[in-house]
Amino acid sequence: MENAQGKDVLILAIESSCDETAAAVVKNGREVLSNVISSQIELHKLFGGVVPEIASRKHIEKINEVIEEALCDAGVTLDDLDAVGVTYGPGLVGALLVGVAEAKAISYAKKLPLVGVHHIEGHISANYIENKNLEPPFLCMVVSGGHTHLVLVKDYGVYEIIGRTRDDAAGEAFDKVARAIGLGYPGGPKIDKLAKEGNPKAIVFPKAHIDGAPLDFSFSGIKSAVLNYINGCKMKGEAINEADIAASFQNAVVEVIVEKTMAAAKELGMKQVCLAGGVASNSALREAMKNACEAAKLDFYYPSPVLCTDNAAMIGAAAYYEYLAGTRHGLDLNAVPNLKIGQR
Ligand code: KG4
Ligand code: ZN
Repeated sequence: MENAQGKDVLILAIESSCDETAAAVVKNGREVLSNVISSQIELHKLFGGVVPEIASRKHIEKINEVIEEALCDAGVTLDDLDAVGVTYGPGLVGALLVGVAEAKAISYAKKLPLVGVHHIEGHISANYIENKNLEPPFLCMVVSGGHTHLVLVKDYGVYEIIGRTRDDAAGEAFDKVARAIGLGYPGGPKIDKLAKEGNPKAIVFPKAHIDGAPLDFSFSGIKSAVLNYINGCKMKGEAINEADIAASFQNAVVEVIVEKTMAAAKELGMKQVCLAGGVASNSALREAMKNACEAAKLDFYYPSPVLCTDNAAMIGAAAYYEYLAGTRHGLDLNAVPNLKIGQR
């Protein structure tokens, strides 16, 4: 789908909300011409998590070369672009500001429309890239390091949150449990790998349900139960089986996510279900959701792992639909660390 005049729309997208400095060139929202990601993970690993001040400084060092590489990989120059899209929230304020300032500078210098994008709307839009036929309405389970939202995507750019976490995000729980069993940061992929060697039924961890809010989540209970279990074993002088802990914890998290997603899909009569966010690359979650959707005869979509974790291609996809809807930000665009979904 091109714009109303039938002309291709080429967007340079920038993402710097956390610890990835990323730029991409996306054509008509769904065709990724380039997708460059410079990860700071090695740097933050030393501290067991993202250090905001270090993240901002690293973004400043990297952003120009990442953008140059994205333009070069796509075989285009700034003169070929139709708009600049940028994540302006939610995220770390100092980190967001680097991308926002860069996008504003390019927009001003090249007289290009500036389109601010919500980071989670970007994660959701990652599904459009490889699933060319996917169109709203659909239900999207967003599971990332900072967010756990069950989102009803009513139309392009029209979202309703129907469930959310009351405490930790799913990815946060993965990271904290990984740290407790000595796997290091970021924990999600490491738990995913170790869990393959463990028994998911070895330990029963609690699955929190919230009275009166059946579609809301709580992951702090599961995380505490894992920590208590480890401490209990240590006190009794019993050896712990890390693989069984990883598999059992992952199983409890996956079961809750799948149960609530399926309940929401049924309640709302949704025919299409998507996953999004870093935790969407979890192999057990993908498998369990695929099986549940097959059994319920629902179409199931999920992005490739590289499009699940933070990247700018997903921001380009979201920016495209915002661009078509007429969203234009001025040079007064600011970073909004707690930006609400669907807010303009
Ligand atoms: O979406 P994302 O890149 O950043 C945020 O916007 O928060 O998500 C990062 C999160 C981290 O918590 C990381 O541990 C988790 O996604 N993650 C995974 C996997 N890959 C990344 N969690 C479980 N299994 C994975 N394979
Ligand atoms: Zn993210």
